[in-house]
Amino acid sequence: MPGTLPLPFPLSFDSFDWSAMNALATPQRSGSVPRTMRRRHYLMCRPSYFEVTYSINPWMDPAKPVDTELAVTQWERLRALYLELGHRVDLIDPMPGLPDMVYAANGATVVEDKVFGARFRNAERAAEGPAYSDWFRSRGFAVHEPEHINEGEGDFLVTESWILAGCGFRSVPEGHAEAQEFFGRPVISLELTDPRYYHLDTALAALDGDEVMYNPEAFSPGSRAVLERLFPGAVLADPVDAEVFGLNAVSDGRHVVLPEAATGLAAKLRERGLEPIGMELSELLKGGGSVKCCTLEVRHCAV
Ligand code: ARG
Repeated sequence: MPGTLPLPFPLSFDSFDWSAMNALATPQRSGSVPRTMRRRHYLMCRPSYFEVTYSINPWMDPAKPVDTELAVTQWERLRALYLELGHRVDLIDPMPGLPDMVYAANGATVVEDKVFGARFRNAERAAEGPAYSDWFRSRGFAVHEPEHINEGEGDFLVTESWILAGCGFRSVPEGHAEAQEFFGRPVISLELTDPRYYHLDTALAALDGDEVMYNPEAFSPGSRAVLERLFPGAVLADPVDAEVFGLNAVSDGRHVVLPEAATGLAAKLRERGLEPIGMELSELLKGGGSVKCCTLEVRHCAV
């Protein structure tokens, strides 16, 4: 039977059927495999108060002018696209004085209706954690108050089998352990080493099932080896695509919404049978974020 381990388990490695074992590794997908989208529920925050007045990542330069109106227009297009694709989009009210609140991905991590609240590293963003937690609480979700620093889905990316977790710049390993205990899912810690890719969602994106794409250069050698082991068939981004935030992408299993400048990455996704959709979010890039940063997925229990 293909894909089934031979029983009884062989005593000698020579006689072990490794092909059956290999069949259990994450399969490589090719363009011929049809892709199915699953309808998603997203939470977003309109960038009404977006500006760059402080700098907590290398992309933010307060001396560079930001066009808030253009940021809103670009963000509205992203929201409209999600609706056109059939997804549900809820909105949280933006708050004056919290210009980074538009990056909704950082507000929490939600898996099977369980909400793991965010606790920000930088004082400038500290008030966003309670704001997002209140949004969930007022809609009947129980929210876990985090003890350790974690910046929501900026650093936690959920695949079918694992939660991948970034550290090095923002979230801390203790926060990864806290998330594993809370969700009861294996959390894989990955160390980011390039300050331009300070959140995991700037260096890696979950595509479908246990399929991911990532920028190997953003990770420590050990973490890169972990990624190679877990995802031997992953889409690897070239530096030019990573630099335009190509990995800051949102997938519904079929459509992958990503910055439109990441053309090389879009071609690689197309080869896999996925449908890349390019978006222009130039104003929000000035704060160090793009498509995924603006999108928090509310994952519900399977029905
Ligand atoms: N200015 C924000 C910060 O540095 C950008 C956050 C981007 N969000 C994300 N999910 N990567 O915290």
